[in-house]
Formats: sequence, C-alpha cells, structure tokens
Amino acid sequence: MNTSPTPRRKLNRRDFLKLAAVVGVAGAGGYLLYEYAPWLDYDQQAQLARTPFETGATGPAQMRELARYATLAANGHNTQPWMFNLREDGVDIYADFSRRLPIVDPDDRELWISLGCALENLLVAARATGHTTEVTYPDADDVIRVQLTPDAAQESPLFAAIPQRQNTRSEYNGQAVETAQLDQLIELPLEPGIALHFVTGTEDMETVVEYVNQGTLSQYADKAFLDELIDWLRFNKKEALASLDGLFTGATGNPEVPRWVGQMFVAGTNPQQQADGDTAKLRSAPHALVIASESEGKASWVRTGQVYERMALTMTSLGIQSAFLNQPLEVPDVRSQFQSALGLGDTLPQLLIRFGYGSPMPRSLRRPVESVVIPA
Ligand SMILES: Cc1cc2nc3c(=O)[nH]c(=O)nc-3n(C[C@H](O)[C@H](O)[C@H](O)COP(=O)(O)O)c2cc1C
Repeated sequence: MNTSPTPRRKLNRRDFLKLAAVVGVAGAGGYLLYEYAPWLDYDQQAQLARTPFETGATGPAQMRELARYATLAANGHNTQPWMFNLREDGVDIYADFSRRLPIVDPDDRELWISLGCALENLLVAARATGHTTEVTYPDADDVIRVQLTPDAAQESPLFAAIPQRQNTRSEYNGQAVETAQLDQLIELPLEPGIALHFVTGTEDMETVVEYVNQGTLSQYADKAFLDELIDWLRFNKKEALASLDGLFTGATGNPEVPRWVGQMFVAGTNPQQQADGDTAKLRSAPHALVIASESEGKASWVRTGQVYERMALTMTSLGIQSAFLNQPLEVPDVRSQFQSALGLGDTLPQLLIRFGYGSPMPRSLRRPVESVVIPA
C-alpha cells in the first residue's frame, strides 16, 4: 500500500477564481434564503389576524373577539399602541405609551387618533353582534371605556369591511369616484366637533401637493425622524413576522432587503426624491380629504380617529381605496400654513387622505389579541 501523500496540485489563479465564485454564489444564496425566508408565509399570518368574527362567541370569548376586531384598525406606523381590559359588560381601551412615537408624534396626537380608530372598529363590531354601546372619552385618565348592553344586532356593511380595510399606498388610476358614492362620503355621520374638508378642484389639489412636498422635505432632512422611522420599518418578511408590528416594506411597494441595506437606503434618501414620489401618488388620486377638529385634546383626537375609520370602512365597502399623506400635519409650521392655505378657518387639520382606485397592497400584520389583553 502506498502511504506516501499524493503531491498536492497547486491552485492556479483560474481554479482560485472558480472556487471563489462557487463559494460566493452559495454564500449569497444561503444568505438570501435566510433573509427572505420564503417558506414563512406572510400572507397566511396576515390572514390569520383577519379571521372572520366568531359570531357564536359569548361571554369573555365575545369580548376577546371585539378586541381582536379593534386591533385591525389603522394606527400610526403600525405601532398598535393599545391594551384592552375585557369586562363582563364592556371593554376598556388603554393607551400603551411604550409604543409612542416621540419624534413624529411628540404630543401623542396620532396615538390617540389610532385609539379612536380601534374604538370605531369595536363599536361597529359590537352593534353588528347585538349590543348598544356607550362611550366614556378619556379626560384626566388615559382610557376609553365602552359599556355594552345586549340588544338586537344592527346589520352594517362596515362590519364586513373591518378585515378588508387597508391603507393602500399604491399609485391610483385617476378615475373619479362617481357622484352618488361621493355624496355618500360627504354625508357620512360625524362626531361632535369634527369636520370634513373634501379637496376636489385642481387648484386646491395643487395646494395640498405643495404642502405634502414641504412636509416631506422637512421630515426627510431630519435625522431623528429617519431614525424613528427606521426603527419601525420591517425590511423583509422575516423581520415583520418576528415582531408582528411595524411597517413592512412590501406593504409600501418597496423591495425586501436585509436590514443593513434598508437602513442605509432610508438614511441616505434624497428628500426631494421622496417628496416627488409622495406628490406623484397624491396626484394619481382624483380626490383628497382633510379631517379637522374644533379643538385639540385626547377626546377630540379619539373622535377624529373614529370619523377616519368610519370613512375608511365606508370607502372599503364601496370598493374605494384610500391612503394617508399626513406629512404636512406632522410638521407644526407647515401644518398652520396648510390650515390657512386651505381656508380651514379655526378648525385644526388632523388627517390628510387621498382616495380613488388602485391595486391592493400586501396587508399589514397584527400581534395576536392575547398579547394586548390585560390579564384578569
Ligand atoms: C394617525 C395615523 C397617521 C398615519 N400616518 C400615515 C402617513 O402619514 N403615511 C402613511 O403611509 N400611513 C400612515 N398611517 C397608516 C398606518 O401606517 C397604517 O394604518 C398601519 O401601518 C397599519 O396598516 P393598515 O392600515 O393597512 O392596516 C397613519 C395611520 C394613523 C392612524
């Protein structure tokens, strides 16, 4: 037996390059598989949160279903800033300040609007499943109390719209909403102290475009704003599925990338390029809408959120898409100029929405209701 070692062939330059290419491709492939985890079913998870309401549920299980439907509401950066206390005869919605956005929302204005959106979903679901409702708005405390009394179920198309609604960030096709439907939106029942301002003419729309441009330029030049946004961005399915909150880039029409790439990209965004993209989206919509309030404060913000969610559910039930463009209202100087440029008088602009027709986007995720219910 020949035990002498076979002389090793020296790796020439060509072999080395081949080997490096194989290792590189295998490594990149493995890394991409790991990052994008295509076997993790994002859509399945999004659908799970939107399982149809268990209408046969009674007692604590029914209260839990109401809270689950509340969590499907719109909310700033998908922070889901709420906790629910389930009682025998009602549900209390608490603010979860650990999920506040101190840079974009220093006064918790949008946090309370988000809670108002959740409240509206809860009220719609409660009435549709056989209750009358009574709301105590937050005052010195940080809780919204909903008292429920069994009664006849009130059918409403808004109930079916709750799991369907989404903030649809795609470009719209410019097609106007037909007059009868527009009238239905104009006549939407409001809350005390809340007003709607529809933007339809080209001139008014261009004024809104100008302020969206200004708001975006100001935010994207602010490192603190970008850092906070990056914290809540989920750059790929794996990240989104790990936290079940935040802004999944797929839902904003952006590609999935590893966090370090996304972070670099967002931090280096050219503000004017971002503003041009946002204003193009606004111009792609035939209509825009401002929701305004007579005063500031927790109760007004909650009522603003209720009116928004009612409007969004109504639009959903009519097959109309909508998306927020709140940048001009999140920068104090731009907000007050916007208020006078649009002739809003003393009413304070709280939310800016474009609406029309566009392709649906991937749905956002939600944490399971068990993780937002306060243990008994
Ligand atoms: C008060 C408030 C402000 C928001 N501002 C914006 C915004 O300026 N731009 C945007 O694209 N989405 C905005 N959103 C939408 C949220 O990001 C969205 O509701 C959340 O990601 C959950 O997604 P969904 O509404 O599709 O379920 C806002 C939502 C609320 C309630």
